[in-house]
Amino acid sequence: MDPIQHLLDEHRDIMAQIADLRRAVVDLTERGQAALPAVLPVLARVGRMMETQLMLHAQKEDDALFPAVEAVIGEDNGPTVAMRFEHQEIHSHGALLRQTLYELNEVEHPKIEAGRERLKALAANGGSAASLSANAEEIIELLDSHFGKEEQILFPMAQSLLDDETLRQVGRAIEQMLNGQ
Ligand SMILES: [Fe+2]
Ligand SMILES: [Fe+2]
Repeated sequence: MDPIQHLLDEHRDIMAQIADLRRAVVDLTERGQAALPAVLPVLARVGRMMETQLMLHAQKEDDALFPAVEAVIGEDNGPTVAMRFEHQEIHSHGALLRQTLYELNEVEHPKIEAGRERLKALAANGGSAASLSANAEEIIELLDSHFGKEEQILFPMAQSLLDDETLRQVGRAIEQMLNGQ
C-alpha cells in the first residue's frame, strides 16, 4: 500500500461527507430553526464519521506516518507537532457537535413532544440552530486548513524524505491498524 495515497484517498472521502455539512450550514443560516429537521440527521452522520473514520485516519497519521517523518527530521517544532495538536482540536469540536446533538435529541425533542407551548418556546429560541451552525463552520474551517497543510506541506515532505522501504513500513503499519479494528 502507498500510505500517502491511502491518506489522500481518505481525505477525499471525508471531504465528500463534509460537503453535506457545508450544505447544512447554508441551510441553517438561511432557514434557522426551520432547517433543523432536515439538518439534524446530517449533523448526526458527520458527528459519527468524525468519531470513527476521521479518528482512525488521524491515528494512522499520528502512529504510523508522523513517527517515520520525525525519525528523519526530529520531533522538536516539526510540522508533525502542529498536526498532532490540530488532531486534538478537531476531535474536541466533534465531541461538542455530538454533545449538542445529544441535547437536542434527548433533551429538547422530548420537550417538543411534551406540548405545544414548549414547542413554541423552542421555536422562538433561535440559539440551537445558530450554535450548531457556528460549530459546524468551525469544524469545516479546521478541516480545510488542516487537510490543506497535510496535502501541501507534510505529505510531499514525507514523500521526498522517506525512502521506499520506510514508506512500505508505514503502509504495513497502517494495514495492521486496519486489521486490528
Ligand atoms: Fe491529520
Ligand atoms: Fe489527514
